[in-house]
Amino acid sequence: MTHLVIQSGKRLTGLCRVPGDKSISHRAVMFAAIADGVSIVRNFLDGGDCRATIGVMRGLGVQVEERSPTELAIHGRGLDGLQEPTDFLNCVNSGTTIRLMSGLLAGQRFTSFLTGTPQIRRRPMGRIVKPLRQMGAVIVGRQDGNYAPLGLGASTLRGLEYTLPVASAQVKSCLLLAGMYAHGLTVIRQPGPARDHTERMLAAMGAPIAVYGDTIHSERPSAPLAPLHIDVPGDISSAAFLLVAGAVVPDSRITIAGVGVNPTRTGIITALQEMGAAITFSNQRIQSGEPVADLTVATSDLHGATFGGEQIVTMIDELPVLAVAATQAKGRTVIRDAGELRVKETDRIASTVTELRKMGARIEPTDDGFIVEGPTRLMGGPVESQGDHRLAMATTVAALIAHGPTTVYGAEVTADSFPGFESTLQALGASLEIHGTPAESIHA
Ligand code: S3P
Repeated sequence: MTHLVIQSGKRLTGLCRVPGDKSISHRAVMFAAIADGVSIVRNFLDGGDCRATIGVMRGLGVQVEERSPTELAIHGRGLDGLQEPTDFLNCVNSGTTIRLMSGLLAGQRFTSFLTGTPQIRRRPMGRIVKPLRQMGAVIVGRQDGNYAPLGLGASTLRGLEYTLPVASAQVKSCLLLAGMYAHGLTVIRQPGPARDHTERMLAAMGAPIAVYGDTIHSERPSAPLAPLHIDVPGDISSAAFLLVAGAVVPDSRITIAGVGVNPTRTGIITALQEMGAAITFSNQRIQSGEPVADLTVATSDLHGATFGGEQIVTMIDELPVLAVAATQAKGRTVIRDAGELRVKETDRIASTVTELRKMGARIEPTDDGFIVEGPTRLMGGPVESQGDHRLAMATTVAALIAHGPTTVYGAEVTADSFPGFESTLQALGASLEIHGTPAESIHA
């Protein structure tokens, strides 16, 4: 177990990078596995969640060569080349792994079982199991398929027309993948702009994925999928911690190079800018089919704002750290329409409120979000990650502006999505000590 001791009072300056995007890294391994030929993935996220996806694909007979921790060569087995696994496939703590893999495995000619940590076994799976069953999938799981472990029997799938009840890229991607193994057309309608990496990547590989506004079509490819050659952009969800840190720590200026700025992911930038944060884009370009930019942030006077509706899905993972920014903003910040926070790695409404209150934040939970009053002088002290990587990093950012030292317990989980988080902050000038073994994340 690791804990971090953070002292405030140091300005943050300099140029840094963040590791590869988590969503794109997962998808790269999965999609490369069903392509024909060898895919090369550079700047792969060498974090706990994406390593779980590598483990699952190996369990299905896929050769994944690690040329370095961030460069993979994946030997595709073709659309119908996955092998029946001889044991449970361990998705560890990764929601993206279990939900997307369920879609990929539901229409195979073999049986497979997906499981993971106690935390992942508490997260809702009914949202994928219900529509997959409508496609003809044979799936069993605890509480009528609502919870993992999930068992997926050999099935023949048929296309489905389905409107997602919540804007979820995991559910959308699961069904688009199942649609590639189904007879007939699968038509998915989404209620909001959930991240579209699946659509972009599969279409680039030659899959018949077509996007018409909020409606996406998927069907069985008539030709083999082309292998991927991809340089994964930096993860905007990781950059978000540095953007907030740069905006709230006095006298700071940070540039984060090579961040993915896909419009389905940039809600956090728009939100911080609406609150008065000085964030600028430079060197904008397209990298492996995704928009990328260097982002510069400088210390800013923030003011409260209200966020809800379609913007929420474009920054869902960034809301805990947005709450930290809100504690430093003048006036009231309201987050609404974010009930999905309750089914993330933790109930992120409850866990964010609990941990930030320990530091003196004036934050109230609501059914679907929270309300923060600011500005508040935060107080250092002991806080817990609660086994949630984004909470560990959000509280670390809060600690950078707190009065007195803060200890973040259970901080090994930062490596789930942002290996090198601590050393990146240190290099920018933060006073941060790591105690204990920064090992692979260990979950309750
Ligand atoms: C993800 C989608 C989001 C996000 C998660 C990654 C993805 O989840 O919170 O971290 O890669 O598709 P939902 O689809 O459940 O909103």
